[in-house]
Amino acid sequence: MTKKVHITEVVLRDANQSQIATRMPRSDFEDILETMDQAGYYSLEVWGGATFDSCLRYLDEDPWDRLRFIRSKVKNTKLQMLLRGQNILGYKHYSDETVRAFVRKSVENGIDIIRIFDALNDPMNMATAIDECLKAGGHAQGTICYTTSPVHTFESYVELGKKLESMGCNSICIKDMAGIMSPKACYDLVTELKKDLKIPVYVHSHTTTGLAPMTLLKAIEAGADGVDTAISIFSGGTSHMSTESLVYALEEMGYDTGVNLKVCQKINDHFKPVQARFLKEGGLNPSVLTTKIDALNYQIPGGMLSNLISQLTAVDKLDQLDKVLEETPRVRKDMGYPPLVTPMSQMVGTQAVTNVLTGERYKMISNEVKAYCRGEYGKSPAPISAELMKKALGDQKPFEGRFDDTIEPEFPAAKAYLGDLAESEEDVLSYVAFPQQAEKFLKERQEKKALKVSYTIQEVQ
Ligand code: CO
Repeated sequence: MTKKVHITEVVLRDANQSQIATRMPRSDFEDILETMDQAGYYSLEVWGGATFDSCLRYLDEDPWDRLRFIRSKVKNTKLQMLLRGQNILGYKHYSDETVRAFVRKSVENGIDIIRIFDALNDPMNMATAIDECLKAGGHAQGTICYTTSPVHTFESYVELGKKLESMGCNSICIKDMAGIMSPKACYDLVTELKKDLKIPVYVHSHTTTGLAPMTLLKAIEAGADGVDTAISIFSGGTSHMSTESLVYALEEMGYDTGVNLKVCQKINDHFKPVQARFLKEGGLNPSVLTTKIDALNYQIPGGMLSNLISQLTAVDKLDQLDKVLEETPRVRKDMGYPPLVTPMSQMVGTQAVTNVLTGERYKMISNEVKAYCRGEYGKSPAPISAELMKKALGDQKPFEGRFDDTIEPEFPAAKAYLGDLAESEEDVLSYVAFPQQAEKFLKERQEKKALKVSYTIQEVQ
């Protein structure tokens, strides 16, 4: 029997995020969506992650509108998003009410599959989102963030997989955001999860260290049900394995991906000039395209590495990159080995940059790191170092219990504050997630509409 392998195309979300800092506007892909719908992908990852923030902050796009537009053109293929559990798409914890409203609205606006993860692999931080996704009729994909540390053992991942299945997840994803999962580690983990779980297992990896093509192939040999890839022009480096290469190899080996390579060629031809423009205008830094074996030591995920480079470039300190890359694992250790994924990757990365640029460790500590030390992000995988706790909190005691239970629902106050700026529940949720960016966006939208009205009145007169 031919074994079916699901292919998820990530060019519009993760490849966009990993190579060009999520700056791809809708105009760059609107004409190719119907073709993408014909390629035979299992799903298209198109939303969530940093796309929401980027739409409001840089692209002057309504993220909800972007999703509805994609849904209107993609009628057959499942649409997928990435959600940071209790952080939704922001960088702090939100109330259960907000998480539920956000998940429900995501499904209502066109999302089929929600990949739900927590930066600390704390199941309690994923529970509300999983529960609401199932209630809304979505496919809840529970996530194991893969990292290596003295506390992240093979057994701990298997336990988490079982826990996520028992919480009702429809599938599991092993998320190797830094591209550090070796072919063998992946083979062993998938083998064990396939033995212990009834639900499908997916694997997500990045080509940062060059391991991903081997890792994905071993995942499939171990029985993984699907993997994530990016159309070739946006593949490689901090992004993902190329879709066409994997499909080509798998078809020859007798697997059925359902993906049509001729259609892939059209999609790739469409994105070639897009990639060329980003390269020419500097939005795509060629350094993210090369294989970085150092990531096996530093464990810097794709998106994080390009962020560190742009942070340092902005202050003309790119020559400090090596020092920052050395400081990053030290900060991570102090913080109790959180997996380097949003928002932990930003917190660890920014702290490492600050430590290097100020010339003194923890001279300045961000509010987010302080909140993390207070326990507001859930349980750290290992205890936080005493030195950091002292510098972050002074004599203050960390929080005990589930911090999320103490968060007041954000929605009513946000709705009252926005008044007629908000035209929908979605607008209010945008504001709850990204207050400054959303308010600016909503004000400008209102001004544009007012202009349009006066223009029309003038015309009539
Ligand atoms: Co990723």
